[in-house]
Amino acid sequence: MDSATVEIKRGLEGVVFTETHLSAIDGEAGQLTYCGYDIEDLAAQATYEETAFLLWYQRLPATSELEMLSNWLRSNRRLPKVVWGIMHSLPESATPMEALRTIASTLSMFDRACIHEEVGGSSLCRSVSLTAKLPTIVASFDRLRGDRPPIEPRDDLGHAANFLYMLTGEEPDPASAKALETYFVLLADHGMNASTFSARVTASTLGDVYSAVVTALGTLKGPLHGGASQAAMEQMIEIGSPRDVDEWFEKRMARKERIFGFGHRVYKVEDPRAKILREMAETVARRSGNTQWYEIAARLEERVLAHPYFDERRIKTNVDYYTAPLLYALGIPIDLFIPMFAIARIAGWTAHVLEQQHDNRLIRPRALYAGPRGVEWHEMLDRSPMVEAQPDAQCVAGRPANCPAALQVPPRFWPA
Ligand code: ACO
Repeated sequence: MDSATVEIKRGLEGVVFTETHLSAIDGEAGQLTYCGYDIEDLAAQATYEETAFLLWYQRLPATSELEMLSNWLRSNRRLPKVVWGIMHSLPESATPMEALRTIASTLSMFDRACIHEEVGGSSLCRSVSLTAKLPTIVASFDRLRGDRPPIEPRDDLGHAANFLYMLTGEEPDPASAKALETYFVLLADHGMNASTFSARVTASTLGDVYSAVVTALGTLKGPLHGGASQAAMEQMIEIGSPRDVDEWFEKRMARKERIFGFGHRVYKVEDPRAKILREMAETVARRSGNTQWYEIAARLEERVLAHPYFDERRIKTNVDYYTAPLLYALGIPIDLFIPMFAIARIAGWTAHVLEQQHDNRLIRPRALYAGPRGVEWHEMLDRSPMVEAQPDAQCVAGRPANCPAALQVPPRFWPA
C-alpha cells in the first residue's frame, strides 16, 4: 500500500461502509426520510415516542403498540438510587455534557433490569432505558447545579413535555411542548453522521449499547457536530443586536473564521430540517414577545447566504443554526443545547446499534503509513534531547505549565 496506489478519503468523505434501513439523506434534493417517511410529515404529525418506535422497529406503531412503548419508556424514566449519589458528587466545574456522558456510562453498572431479557432483546431494553433516562439526567443535573431539588418525572406527560416539566418544575404550555417534541423528532436520526458512525464502530466490536451511546455522546460534543448549536447561540449573543450583525460578519470574514450553523458534508442545498426549525424559531420568538435572537439569526443568515464565499462552496444553513434561537426562546440554558441534541438523537443511535448487531462485521478501516521506515535503534545514552535538561523542573498534577519544556514540545509531525 503506497500513496501511488491508494486514494485517501479524508474524513471518509463519500465512503459507504454499510446499508441502512433507518434514514436516507438526499443532499442535492434537500430531502430526509426515516424508514421511507418524509421528515416534514413526521415533524408535523409524529410524537417522539412514535418516531423512536419507527426507528427501532422500522415501521409505524398501531395505537396499542405505541401505548405499550410509551409505557415502557415512562416506567424507565427514574434513575437508580445509587446514581443520585454520583450526580451529587460531580464537581462544580462539570458541564452538562460531561455530566451526561459520565452518568450514561455509570448507568451500565446499575441498570441490570435488561440482563434477564432474552438474547437480542437486551439491546432494545437498554435502548429504551437510556432513551427514557437521558432527559432525567439532563434536567436533574441542571437543577442540582442551581441548588434546586430535582423533580420526579410525571408519568402522565409525553417525552418532551415531561422534560420541560422536570427542568422547570412547571407543566409546559402545549405550544412549547409541541415545539420541543418537533425538535426531538427532527433530530432523531440522520444517516451516517459522526456520532452515529462512532456508535456503530463500538457496536461492531460487540461492545454493548451503553458503550456505544457513550462513544456517540463524546463524538457529538465537538463544535463541528452537535456542539454547533451552542456555538451558534454564542455567536448571536456576541453580536448582541440585529443592527450589529453586519459589522460582526465583516470582521469574522476578515479573520477567516468559520460561522457556526452553516455547512454540511452531505447537504449542498438547504437542509429540510433548517426550514422547519426557522419557522418554529420565529413562531416561538413571536409568542414569547422577544424576537431579538430570531432577528439576529435571520439577518446573519441573509448575509452568509448572499456572500460569494458561501455561495461558491454551496454552504447553506444547517440544522444547528435555528436550533439555537428556538431552544433559547424555550428557556433552555445554552450549555444544555448539546445534551438536548443527545436526548433527541439517542433513538437513532440505538436503532443503528441494533441494526449493526443484526448484521455485524467489525468496522476497521486502514491508514496509509506516512512516517519514517527502517530507523536504526539507538541506545538511550546515544539519544540527544530536543532541549537542554532542566533537572529542577517537575510536572505538578494539574499544572502542566511547570513541566520541563522538553516534555511540552509537541511531536514533530503535529503542526505547532
Ligand atoms: N464557515 C466558513 N467556512 C466554511 C464553513 C463555515 N461554517 N463550513 C465550511 N466552510 C469552508 C471551509 O473553510 C472549506 O473552505 P476551503 O475549501 O476554502 O478550505 C470548505 O468550506 C469546505 O469545508 P470542509 O470543512 O472541508 O467541509 P466538510 O464537509 O468537511 O465540513 C462541516 C462540514 C464540518 C459541518 C463544516 O461545514 C463546518 O465546520 N461548519 C460549521 C460547524 C457546524 O455548523 N457544524 C454542524 C454541522 S451539522 C451537524 O453536525 C449536526
